[in-house]
Amino acid sequence: MGLLDSAPVLDRQGPTPIYAQVKAVIDRAISSGELEPHRRIPSERELSARFGVSRMTVRQALLEMIEDGQLYTRSGKGTYVAERKIEQPLQRLTSFTQDVTARGLRPSSRLLQADLLPAPIELAHALGIGPGAELVRIRRLRLADGKPLAIETSHLPHARCPGVLEHDLEHGSLYEILRREYGLELASARQTIEASAPTREERQLLELPAGLPVLRIHRFTSDRAGLVSEFVQSAYRGDRYQLHVELR
Ligand code: GLP
Repeated sequence: MGLLDSAPVLDRQGPTPIYAQVKAVIDRAISSGELEPHRRIPSERELSARFGVSRMTVRQALLEMIEDGQLYTRSGKGTYVAERKIEQPLQRLTSFTQDVTARGLRPSSRLLQADLLPAPIELAHALGIGPGAELVRIRRLRLADGKPLAIETSHLPHARCPGVLEHDLEHGSLYEILRREYGLELASARQTIEASAPTREERQLLELPAGLPVLRIHRFTSDRAGLVSEFVQSAYRGDRYQLHVELR
């Protein structure tokens, strides 16, 4: 019997507000897979009967879950379970492949552009190479379980990974190729993140519903010796991606 079928026992005397307990029960039903993404959850009326609490209490729980991005509403149709977000931990350097795999999804890429270009002055400076030195540019649409999640454009000094464009960049991880083939181990990064409106091309590639923002991430990634070796511009679907940080 599922969590939402039985009458969940709520602690009515304890310090945890009832709405937070209702939220926790629904949250467990989502994380256990009982309520799958895009499934409609029972109505406010049904939930209030099942939990033995007021509709106001249920509404407060649902509203918070909508704000957190765990649920979404379709006008006149009800409340649905949202797709689980992919988390990028901010205190540890991870690759796209690792972030997506950690969520139990299958990562893949579509190569949009792969070429060499002379480094513009500012970028050359940041990457510690001479202006005009060869830069590798790799632009990929990144997908999780076949669904577009991000567009990433990596720039790397060609001298640090000569011939990298000859590798299969559509399957597997760029970081893995850099490590395996060039002994280039990316270990730390400086990242800036902002929400912004997508361009028309980004909206199409990411299959973004109208009105949704992208998370724009700029990142300078360094190798183990602290040498800046990659500059990445990426646009992530704002509704599918979550940045995670622990503050101490
Ligand atoms: C993350 C980073 C990018 C990096 C990519 C490499 O998404 N934000 O800066 O280029 O990982 O991913 P992969 O090794 O899966 O190709």
